[in-house]
Amino acid sequence: MNDLSAVPTTAETYANPEAATSPSVMVVNHPLVQHKVTLVRSEETTTDNFRRLVREISQLLTYEATRDLAMETISIKTPIAPMQSPVLSGKKLCLVSILRAGNGFLDGMLELLPAARVGHIGLYRDPETLEPIEYYFKMPEDIQERMVIVVDPMLATGNSAIAALNRLKEAGVTTMKYVCLIASRPGLRALHAAHPDVCIVTAAIDEQLNEHGYIVPGLGDAGDRLYGTK
Ligand code: URA
Repeated sequence: MNDLSAVPTTAETYANPEAATSPSVMVVNHPLVQHKVTLVRSEETTTDNFRRLVREISQLLTYEATRDLAMETISIKTPIAPMQSPVLSGKKLCLVSILRAGNGFLDGMLELLPAARVGHIGLYRDPETLEPIEYYFKMPEDIQERMVIVVDPMLATGNSAIAALNRLKEAGVTTMKYVCLIASRPGLRALHAAHPDVCIVTAAIDEQLNEHGYIVPGLGDAGDRLYGTK
């Protein structure tokens, strides 16, 4: 799915059979996800509910983002009979949170992927240029051997996402997905252009950014809403 101008705003999904084999954008249009996204967007949603909803959405997005994980069959015995049964195989996982809002995704994701390692990247946006400045980078030592899922709720200009993926590729990572809650269409285009090999999984696509780089309509500042700092 390369023609991003054709990506719909929310209602259709590209969580399609090709997503497993070709880099693409996956818009998760499951009714539960869309319902929770509406609640999370509302300015009336309190900090505790916002945090819970982000956690729940992160789990539903993880379910889709991991749909194409490699599997193998092992022999087990149930109390009734022996059988061949599937388990995960292939590359081990690392979740990489772009601080600080990415951390709102981590706990829920780790409940589904308890053996995953976790890395953190700290980037802040220069308020003038909106360019990302790195202040923290801590990854597992074997990061280059892992499949990495980078998480940040808001894909706005795409600058931070691109910088994070550049940095991870420099560190030797070869297999990555990017999971966000809301993507702006400009950010999606920029990220896809810079990293066409990375599948982007999102719950919604919003058309615009404002002059401060916030997604419109978006949900405001995800970090502030997660941690009640405003
Ligand atoms: N970061 C946020 O938290 N919200 C936006 O709308 C854009 C970037």
